[in-house]
Amino acid sequence: DGMNFKEVMALAKRRGIFQPAYEPYGGVAGLLDYGPIGVRIRRKILALWRRQFVIETGALELEGATIGPEALFRASGHLSEFDDLLVECNECKKLHRADHLIEGGDALEKEALIAEVVRVTCSGCGGALGTPRPFNLMFATSIGAGRGSTGYLRPETAQGIFQAFPWLLRQNRGKLPLVTAQIGRAFRNEIAPRQGPLRLREFTQMEVEHFFLPDAESSLPNGVGDVVVSLLPANGKGGEISISEAHAKGVITSPLVATWLARSCKFILDCGVPPEKLRFRQHNQNEMAHYSSDCWDGEVETSVGWIEVVGIAHRGDYDLKAHAVASGREMRVPAGGESRQVERWIPNKGAIGKQFKSAAGEVLGQLDSSAVPGIVVGVGGKKIELDEECFTLETTTMQEMVFPQVVEPSFGLDRLLYVVLETAWRTEDDRGWLALPEVVGPYDALVAPLMVKDGMGERAKEIHRKLRQKGMDVYLDSAGSIGRRYARADEIGVPRAITIDHQTLEDGTVTVRERDLTEQKRTSIKDLQ
Ligand code: GLY
Repeated sequence: DGMNFKEVMALAKRRGIFQPAYEPYGGVAGLLDYGPIGVRIRRKILALWRRQFVIETGALELEGATIGPEALFRASGHLSEFDDLLVECNECKKLHRADHLIEGGDALEKEALIAEVVRVTCSGCGGALGTPRPFNLMFATSIGAGRGSTGYLRPETAQGIFQAFPWLLRQNRGKLPLVTAQIGRAFRNEIAPRQGPLRLREFTQMEVEHFFLPDAESSLPNGVGDVVVSLLPANGKGGEISISEAHAKGVITSPLVATWLARSCKFILDCGVPPEKLRFRQHNQNEMAHYSSDCWDGEVETSVGWIEVVGIAHRGDYDLKAHAVASGREMRVPAGGESRQVERWIPNKGAIGKQFKSAAGEVLGQLDSSAVPGIVVGVGGKKIELDEECFTLETTTMQEMVFPQVVEPSFGLDRLLYVVLETAWRTEDDRGWLALPEVVGPYDALVAPLMVKDGMGERAKEIHRKLRQKGMDVYLDSAGSIGRRYARADEIGVPRAITIDHQTLEDGTVTVRERDLTEQKRTSIKDLQ
């Protein structure tokens, strides 16, 4: 069971799932076109994710802009931190990712990696390598005409949510917890990507940002029950464990990380990934993104190793704090404890106007928010003390303000599609099929006349039309032998085929062939739906 990488790529091309983008121009590494079948399976996976991560959780969705201003990514840390170390071969000029030249390089810290890289030669030609230098993974563009201003294609959808946090919070009536979600494209200018959909320069993320008050992380269990997961903590002592036990034993410290991990696990299994091929691995300290304090990757075992399909990160208050400082906007929320009454003196413009006439502006210009009665101001070279008449006393309710914390499950749709395809493949004798769960299959059914002659072709068209009118997602295929049509349907994971034969014309029944067992049953047309 299963396919290898080459077989997935060949099937994807043959059956219209995906192929390199701009194929007539030789393709561009890291960019894909999804074809008719690929689009359908992707939409199904997206719909399932939306059901489980948006509808079931009551998340508020955002569809943010994909281009962001430089200030946003300076604040988020992506401008200074979001880079890979690049090494050029002095001989063949090939560009390498430093961590790909060293076994286990992705677990090393920058300094350690640089120290290791000077010891190796070009993996292509054996030539001497140049000095490693950081290469920022964001795509830069310019916003507007002329010199414009620098913008970047977002490297993660998450920043769109963080900058919109005050607005989204208002849509939630100012209440935490706030669960937000976003589906959309993200862009990373990867160095030398080779692995088809596994490392893309343009890809689709499905992200949730779950904001909550510090010390108010919701407790387990969660909406999906006590799921058993395979965990590989950073200390290496892993195994199968229930999510509540993993939390109780402190393997996963944050209850929300545990909750989203359980939900992610269920979702990946519902997409058809076999449980024995799924594990959640905790990042070690060096591997973690600059914004994370804890992170678990959901990884699926494939023919090319363990592939990350989701990262569940505890981002703390890193992002909101950064945007609050950079934008000057309030991104904090009331801490939720007792509120206090605070009295404040506010300059009374009317009274100051009356007293100082044309010099009122000069007086007001010297008063900031700390000004209180008794303050001495200069008016036309003289010093004058302002009395209480010049102020009003305001009473305001003060709450201690805090930055919310956030936990983020972030899926890569393209990788998920890849692992679903690779692990769903089954063969028996000379038959091969994608055993996709119906919920992610590209169609509900194939409608096929046994032969087009004797009115079977016409009858098939009519049944096809009627089923579609009733909302079933079926397609008609009349070309070639029935065996070949079944084979094509099997290869794209269509769960069943409805066949119109001679008997259909006589008694209004059809055969329904199930993909996985190839069993055929006769059913009357009116019971088909
Ligand atoms: N937002 C998480 C990531 O892009 O990896």
